[in-house]
This record gives sequence, C-alpha cells and structure tokens, in this order.
Amino acid sequence: RSGPRLALLGTGTVGSAFVERCERLRAQGVEVPAFAWLSNTRALREAGGRPSEALAQLDAAAPVRRDTWAPWVESEGLRPGDVVVDATASDSVAGWHSEWLARGIHVVTANKLGNGGELVRAQAIAEAQEEGGARYGDSATVGAGLPLLRSIRELMAGGDRICSVSGVLSGSLAWLFDRHDGSRPFSALVREARDLGYAEPDPRTDLSGEDVRRKLLILARAAGLALEAGQVQVDSLLTDALASAEAGEVDALLPSLDAPLHDRLMKAGAGGARLRFVGGFDGEGARVGLDALPASHPLCAGGGTDNIVAIGSCRYAQQPLVVRGPGAGADVTAAALLDDVLAIVHR
Ligand code: HSE
Repeated sequence: RSGPRLALLGTGTVGSAFVERCERLRAQGVEVPAFAWLSNTRALREAGGRPSEALAQLDAAAPVRRDTWAPWVESEGLRPGDVVVDATASDSVAGWHSEWLARGIHVVTANKLGNGGELVRAQAIAEAQEEGGARYGDSATVGAGLPLLRSIRELMAGGDRICSVSGVLSGSLAWLFDRHDGSRPFSALVREARDLGYAEPDPRTDLSGEDVRRKLLILARAAGLALEAGQVQVDSLLTDALASAEAGEVDALLPSLDAPLHDRLMKAGAGGARLRFVGGFDGEGARVGLDALPASHPLCAGGGTDNIVAIGSCRYAQQPLVVRGPGAGADVTAAALLDDVLAIVHR
C-alpha cells in the first residue's frame, strides 16, 4: 500500500474504542487508512477479557503484533507520512514521540506523558514538529477532545495572551463528586468509574491529582508557559497506604479513602458548599486540589463527567471563555483521536 498507515499502540479501553470507531466510519464509506495494532504483552494480559470483537476481526485483516511495539516500529520501519496513534498510558512510549516526529511520522496521542511529561520532552516534541513538518495531534489529551487546546491555540494565533486557566479537568473525579452523596462508599464509586472507563488504568493517577497536573501542563505549555511538573502544587486525595501500595494492592486499599473523604464531604455540605477537584494557573502560580465551592459557583454547574474550564485572556479579561462538556470515557476520547487522524490524513 502506498497511503499512510496507522500504527495503533495500546488496545485497552481507548484503543479498542478507537478500532470500533474506525470500523464504523469505514462502513459508512469514510476513508480511514489501514492499520496495524500493536500491543505489548503486559497490556494484553492486563486487558483480561479484551481484545474486543472489532480487534479480533482486525486480527485477520492487519499485520498483528502481540509482542513489544518498539522493535516493530524501529526495524520494520514506519514511513514518513505514517501515523502512530498512542492509546497507551506509557511513559516509555511517550519518550518516542519526538523521535517519530523527527522522522516525519505523525503522532496522534491520548497519552498525556508526551507534551504533558517532562518539560524537556515537551520542548523536544515542539521542536521536532517545527523542524520535520510532521504533526502532533493531542486533542484527546485534555478534556477528551473538548475544544480547550484548540481554543487556546486559536486565541494565541490571533495575537491574544492567555492569563489564566481554571476548572474541572478530571472527568472521573467530576463524576465521583457528582455521584457521592454519602449513600455509597467513595471506594465503590471509584471502582464503578474505572469499570465505566473514566479512570486511568491505575485510578491513583486520577486520585493523586497527577492526571489533572498533566492536563494543566499541556494547557499551560500551549499557552506559552514553560511550566515544569514541580511548579504545580498538587493536593492529592490518596491516603498514605494507597500512595505507597504496589499496583496489585490498589483495589484492596481503595476503602482507605472512604472515611477521610466522607468527612470532608460532610463538612463542606454542612456549610452549604460542594466539593470540586480544580486545577488552574494564573500569574501567581499553578495548583491542583479539592476546593469547597458555593453551590452557585460556575464550576459546580456540570454533571456526569463534565469538564468545565474558564480561560482568561486579554480578549476575555472581563468574562472568561468557558468550555464545558463530557471530558472522559472511551468513546469521546476515541473520537478525538480519530478527529486528529483524519485531519492529518485528509489534509
Ligand atoms: N482519567 C481521565 C479523567 C480521563 O478522568 O478525566 C480523561 O483524560
């Protein structure tokens, strides 16, 4: 084949939904490039009941690799113009993003550890894009494709300056605090959020505030700030037991969250406030943590997995630009990935 090929890395919640979406569009006559799906053995093992039916069908149709992705990508040679879709949550895969871009290979990612990873990594990605002409599709990394990054970039391109960003950037934590009325333990809700595909593969990434920190870094860097992870103050929801647990112990230790969060929730509720997990930056600094807000506060408006983000800029100095919508889940995230892929392929 001479057209661009897609290499899908990661066949978990997001990767499976992406394949299903591709197949659906193809059935409707939309041109979607052929692809290989690559997964490492650990991810496949952890996926348990997966791969999904769509992936199984693909098994016959595409070159399938079930071993590690790196040798394939290296030795069998992706061509310039091909597209790597990173649907993993892997730090080592994210370490490859700039390398691929430098080789003229487009990268579309839901993995936040690329431009939301270390600053040097994010800068290498930005430089490789400028030099190589390959594109970096990162719509899925923040708000699962809500027009957040796009709005910031368009304002900047129009000469505006972003002064602040603040809001609810975690779909899973928004869902948890929306649902938590004290009738069910917080830990039971965390398990449900994970089963619904809202949480990260390790739910501690959400509960520690790390997921929101990464999104904040991505937004801040898009706004032109050279922000390092260490400059973001993060108030974690994790208990010490959970924070230091091995991956296999996490599920059993989730109930350690119940008492402390129940107390905070009741205290806030008694004062007429609601709890919201908020992330933001302005001229003073950057912070991620749990806030008790009056029920009438704009950030208390959303329900479900809604992200609500207020962007302050010179143009929006009096009243911020507010973006709100579903910000987590397999389908919205896969749709954002496919948007970016099609924007590259059909350019
Ligand atoms: N775990 C993330 C969230 C998924 O809760 O928002 C979307 O990035």
